[in-house]
Amino acid sequence: MSTADKSKRSVSHPGETTTLVKEMSDNGRQEVTWHLLMAVGTAVIGSLQFGYNTGVINAPQKIIESFYNETWFDRYAEYIPISSLTALWSLSVAIFSVGGIFGSFSVGLFVNRFGRRNSMLFVNVLSFIAAALMGFSKLAKSWEMLIIGRFIVGLYSGLSTGFVPMYVGEIAPTSLRGALGTLHQLGIVIGILMAQVFGIKEIMGNSTMWPFLLGFTFIPAVIQCALLPFCAESPRYLLINQNEEAKAKTALKKLRGTEDVGADMQEMREESRQMMREKKVTILELFRSSLYRQPIFIAIMLQLSQQFSGINAVFYYSTAIFEKAGVSEPVYATIGAGVVNTAFTVVSLFIVERVGRRSLHLIGLMGMAVSSVLMTIAMALLDQVTWMSYVSIAAIFSFVAFFEIGPGPIPWFIVAELFSQGPRPSAFAVAGFSNWFANFLVGMCFQYVEYLTGPYVFIIFTVLLLMFFVFTYFKVPETKGRTFDEISASFRSGEEKYTRDDLNTLGADSAL
Ligand SMILES: *[C@@H]1O[C@H](CO)[C@@H](O)[C@H](O)[C@H]1NC(C)=O
Repeated sequence: MSTADKSKRSVSHPGETTTLVKEMSDNGRQEVTWHLLMAVGTAVIGSLQFGYNTGVINAPQKIIESFYNETWFDRYAEYIPISSLTALWSLSVAIFSVGGIFGSFSVGLFVNRFGRRNSMLFVNVLSFIAAALMGFSKLAKSWEMLIIGRFIVGLYSGLSTGFVPMYVGEIAPTSLRGALGTLHQLGIVIGILMAQVFGIKEIMGNSTMWPFLLGFTFIPAVIQCALLPFCAESPRYLLINQNEEAKAKTALKKLRGTEDVGADMQEMREESRQMMREKKVTILELFRSSLYRQPIFIAIMLQLSQQFSGINAVFYYSTAIFEKAGVSEPVYATIGAGVVNTAFTVVSLFIVERVGRRSLHLIGLMGMAVSSVLMTIAMALLDQVTWMSYVSIAAIFSFVAFFEIGPGPIPWFIVAELFSQGPRPSAFAVAGFSNWFANFLVGMCFQYVEYLTGPYVFIIFTVLLLMFFVFTYFKVPETKGRTFDEISASFRSGEEKYTRDDLNTLGADSAL
């Protein structure tokens, strides 16, 4: 770590002790220990289940539809009317997001009562129930079971999108918070990729195996339940929420792999002291208090920038584009997009601590805007110019790549960074709700809008992307390398301080 970085990290904090503590703590603790890796790896199995269930329903659409048709025939002795089939299928897809909306909003009910780790452990019950309902729906000849199962696994996923980034953010050392935070998104995209691969006809995407495809989520749930009891509880939860000093210390020693955790303890005590003044923060208070209004607005906008970037629209659209472009097996091109997805999340993981959250988010948004213009042009000219099909495929891949550089991973973990311990659970509830609701809206409206506008639908996303770029440029602070307490202190001391990061550094240098 360079000295410039250090001065940046200690800036904007009122207390001198923290600065000193951090200088000390820089000496030799920022290591990735086995225990830390196991804890984060186990937590992101929750993200993997979320990703898997997002993607799993697409490939076997035709097969599950004919299951609905046959079941309808068994019950009513006639084939299903096409309108009923469309309604049932849309419900099966969309109810997952409805579950997610409810789940994400309920995060606060769990995390302070049971702790971060135990919350993740308990909600796997939802996963087991959902897997059983979906897995046995064919045997029981019941589409109701499948639909209820989708709702319940949606609940689980909504809760996970709060629990996982919160837990990971709280146990990670400051200098690794972004890199480890990106693992949540990596879990999601690996889950999607697994669903795409397993959904191939030859594997589980056929009329006999599809119940296993849907019930598969049982397996990661079992693995997570087996490993979580061995993972440390969040030391911040133990110290700040429970006031269990000894337990917090033990957990920290495990995670950091060293006896010398005085600096971390000191930093958490500082945050704890701030919290005494703040007390408990409800969702309403997040919006009422001038302290939190700014960061919650930023958190919501970043979530919206992720969903309204049009990433899911591109995924829905990609198969049609690949077909038009003459790819004989579009399913493999879709898997190709899944591989690009995963690869660039890994790229983000390795550069996020160097380049910073703000810069990566800006690069990602701009890259996506350019890609979507390219995609629009290519699709508009597809019928006149044959090689435009290759341009459109390249544009899809680059759109996805830029998404995973910034707008994919960053909005999740930056919520943990923008808030201190008191308001964090409520902030996650609001941010998660915004994300799931926006996701739901795009899913519902995209087909209608696309019907009206044709290939020019992506112009809408281009405009939105540019708006989010401007917002991020002016409003989003860089949180890289700063402690939670320093970040919230910068919000307390006014706007100028964090939008002008460079000035800050300058000021710090001259003060030294
Ligand atoms: C239902 O199945 C029957 C028999 O296979 C088929 O003729 C009919 O088109 C199917 N209905 C729908 C809506 O797909």
